[in-house]
Amino acid sequence: METIFRIHRFNPETDREPFFREYRLDAEPNLRVLDCLNRIKWEHDGGLSYRMSCAHGVCGSCAVKINGRCTLACQTLVRDVAGDVVTIEPLPSFKVVKDLIVDLDAFMARVACIRPFLLSHGPVPDRERPQSPEERKKIDEVIRCILCACCTGACPVSQGDPNYLGPAPLVQAFRRIFDSRDDETSARLAQMDAPDAAWGCVNHFECTRVCPKRIPITKSINFIKREIEKTRDQQIMTEINRAEKRPED
Ligand code: SF4
Ligand code: FES
Repeated sequence: METIFRIHRFNPETDREPFFREYRLDAEPNLRVLDCLNRIKWEHDGGLSYRMSCAHGVCGSCAVKINGRCTLACQTLVRDVAGDVVTIEPLPSFKVVKDLIVDLDAFMARVACIRPFLLSHGPVPDRERPQSPEERKKIDEVIRCILCACCTGACPVSQGDPNYLGPAPLVQAFRRIFDSRDDETSARLAQMDAPDAAWGCVNHFECTRVCPKRIPITKSINFIKREIEKTRDQQIMTEINRAEKRPED
């Protein structure tokens, strides 16, 4: 089946403006869009630039926008997107480095700022830190995140506000806040309790729609908000109880 691939091109060293170039390919419906990109590069245009590594939905590096949807090129079949034309663009919200490659430095810095690792202050155990199946279940879904940035690319808030933490770092924060082995819950919740963090999400659900790992992102962010409010209520109750116990002057 002949398909036209309309691909975003931009080399900041030589091009004034981005433009689209069309390539015609005889593409089987079961071929992945990443396979088509590879064929275009290997058979038609060696200068085309895009990221890929695992080719199996694990590394997250091949995230692009295909026919208007942020997704993984290696998990998208031609038959899923076929019309006469398949348009491939870089992820929105990010600066384009070249063609389909975007600059992920700021995205990764935001993930890093939530301290995406276990912070446990107890004595180091002889073996692993145990966790019951029920405790583990709380983070089962978010643990699937591969940091592809599709959610951040699709998020209308991220597109309009460069200071917003964005869905993927919030997913990473959820993973640690609800991990029974982590001892920094209060500090993590305090960090999320800001207009540019959890409260920046206004429930567009675009992130949830595009996540290739089917993580309920918006629901997870709302869980963080609820946990923040629960903590605030507990703090107020503690203050009231303390004041009531205080001896009369
Ligand atoms: Fe990608 Fe989903 Fe993780 Fe966002 S939450 S970075 S869309 S895997
Ligand atoms: Fe690794 Fe697509 S190449 S997720």
